[in-house]
Amino acid sequence: MTESSELRMARIPLNHGGGRIPALGFGTLIPDPAVTIAATRNALEAGFRHFDCAERYRNEREVGEALQAGLAAGGISREDIFVTTKVWNTNHRPERVEPAFEASLERLRINYLDLYLIHTPFAFQPGDEQDPRDQNGNVVYDDGVTLLDTWRAMESLVDDGRCRAIGLSDIGLNDLLPLYEAVKIKPAVVQVEAHPYLPETELLEFCKEKGIVLLAFAPLGHGIRSGPLEDPVILAISARVGKTPAQVLLAWAVQRGTALLTTPKTAARAIENLDISALPEDALEDINRIQTRQRFNEVVKTGSPGFIPQGR
Ligand SMILES: NC(=O)c1ccc[n+]([C@@H]2O[C@H](COP(=O)([O-])OP(=O)(O)OC[C@H]3O[C@@H](n4cnc5c(N)ncnc54)[C@H](OP(=O)(O)O)[C@@H]3O)[C@@H](O)[C@H]2O)c1
Repeated sequence: MTESSELRMARIPLNHGGGRIPALGFGTLIPDPAVTIAATRNALEAGFRHFDCAERYRNEREVGEALQAGLAAGGISREDIFVTTKVWNTNHRPERVEPAFEASLERLRINYLDLYLIHTPFAFQPGDEQDPRDQNGNVVYDDGVTLLDTWRAMESLVDDGRCRAIGLSDIGLNDLLPLYEAVKIKPAVVQVEAHPYLPETELLEFCKEKGIVLLAFAPLGHGIRSGPLEDPVILAISARVGKTPAQVLLAWAVQRGTALLTTPKTAARAIENLDISALPEDALEDINRIQTRQRFNEVVKTGSPGFIPQGR
């Protein structure tokens, strides 16, 4: 892929007949409801066709409202967009998966999902409290359910035709491998933090070998400064190719074969984050040689979200 429009429009095929996922995704992890609605409308208008949601973000209703209005206004059909949401840690018990799925569909105002993910491999005490804690403030986990139990309930949703693809998030190779070996429907997507400071090369190679799409969150390092957005190598390439540091990071992510999620909150940033063009080979190599290693999101270690509003 060499042309700007090709990179921006890239879609990656999913296994198990799951269609194709647009490489550039819009993430809806936005604490403010009004900003969620405006940013989702802006993203759709700018050309994003892949929307990443989660019951844990507590804003599926706002995303659903924005999508419904935006599709109608833009003459865009449901089939033209790709919608993902995620089952939260408190709904890992198999009998809770389908009700959680139905509730998400209802809030999002859609009747099928393109992709349903297990948000983290950590099962929390089942119930309506999304962040169950004991008297000492420690998370209450649920050892009465395995990841495989939850996965089998996810497989049933695919078998029923309610959701086109299933996958996992915040999982490492150690947990992914045994699950992959054991299951009937293989994961189509694995969503993890990935950027030049956390390239997840081993996981990416495994995913490519098995036909799994690696979907990178925090491709801009969650926008944290100093981080990849201010890395001297990225800044130098940005000046060299005449693209912004964000566009350089997003192009690198797509060119190495991942899909990605970014959360522009303004119309201008939505347009900027879609307007990427292929970087020359030497720029890709320069980025691959960056030595800094940093994880920005600790969710992968405990299942507790680092970037999600707790209060609403
Ligand atoms: N599975 C998980 O556990 C998990 C965890 C975290 C996130 N996610 C998903 O991943 C999505 C992406 O989240 P993210 O935090 O990684 O998004 P991101 O777009 O990589 O980072 C968001 C930050 O980058 C800034 N930003 C966006 N575009 C920019 C640009 N062109 N130039 C400079 N700064 C820019 C934003 O600033 P402003 O706020 O000023 O616009 C914001 O501070 C989330 O919405 C969610 O869907 C999943």
